[in-house]
Amino acid sequence: MFGLDEDEADTIVTMNRQLPRPFLKWAGGKTQLLDALMHRKPPTYAAYHEPFLGGGALFFGLYRAHALTKVFLSDSNRELIDAYIAVRDHVDEIIELLSEYPHEEAFYYELRAKDPWKLSLPERAARMIYLNKTGYNGLYRVNRQGKFNVPFGRYKAPRYLDPDNLQEVSKALQLAEIRSCAFDQAVEDAVEGDWVYFDPPYAPLSQTAHFTAYQPDGFSHKDQSRLRDVCLALSERGVWVMISNSDTLLIRDLYSHPPFILHEVAARRAINSNASKRGKVQELIITNYPIPTLPHTDFTP
Ligand SMILES: C[S@@+](CC[C@H](N)C(=O)[O-])C[C@H]1O[C@@H](n2cnc3c(N)ncnc32)[C@H](O)[C@@H]1O
Repeated sequence: MFGLDEDEADTIVTMNRQLPRPFLKWAGGKTQLLDALMHRKPPTYAAYHEPFLGGGALFFGLYRAHALTKVFLSDSNRELIDAYIAVRDHVDEIIELLSEYPHEEAFYYELRAKDPWKLSLPERAARMIYLNKTGYNGLYRVNRQGKFNVPFGRYKAPRYLDPDNLQEVSKALQLAEIRSCAFDQAVEDAVEGDWVYFDPPYAPLSQTAHFTAYQPDGFSHKDQSRLRDVCLALSERGVWVMISNSDTLLIRDLYSHPPFILHEVAARRAINSNASKRGKVQELIITNYPIPTLPHTDFTP
């Protein structure tokens, strides 16, 4: 597995064996923190909201644990959201398309060159899954023109065709209302007793005193503050809130007052092109409710 030592790869393979699991590999995916997040869910909740969906690791974890009834999933990335809607509503067609796609460099570049917005919903989803699983580093990355520009990945046998998982994902998504929108709009209708999990693009670990401006992933200091304000407003409405973020002064400062409680967790940076930066880091899980008791095995390996 790319960028992981053998132990890490084994652990992730074991965790991923259960279905359904994320069908896209996503930057900032939460498979590594899954246990720590699951242990911190509120004792009871009505609907579950995930407004920074990405690969949806926690959604799938909760579904596998039978801990969901009504679900609202969203993300500002429209192509990503369309892929979820397509898998929910057209899974057989997507599987058929993927089974026809060869694992060949020339085909990869041919598919990459297609304009996704001129394809049908299932074709667009199949393209995204194929490029995500066969592209270099297995990540979805677009350039300034919004074009997917990742080179061919040279994996021996990438699993872009995984019909069992896609069918289970489709089944899980039947519970969900899925839409593309900004996080604040996504939770406008959350009501007392609902639970919202926010997993925003992380605040950068190194920042200067003047860090306020644009971040590469488009999520600025101002956005982090706005997210905190949204969490305060939700708290006043009696909505349970959980947030994950990097352990930085900015984030500690934003969430330093009640109702927020900071939980420090150890995480591994699984994907980092720089091997020296792949060790353990500390991250924060923030809740607006107390966690009763935690099992001893709090930290994911
Ligand atoms: C850290 S990733 C989420 C990872 C996810 N929890 C997982 O397990 O794969 C953050 C996501 O937030 C989305 N995003 C960025 N800015 C946003 C905004 N303003 N509103 C909603 N979503 C946003 C990105 O498209 C990305 O998918």
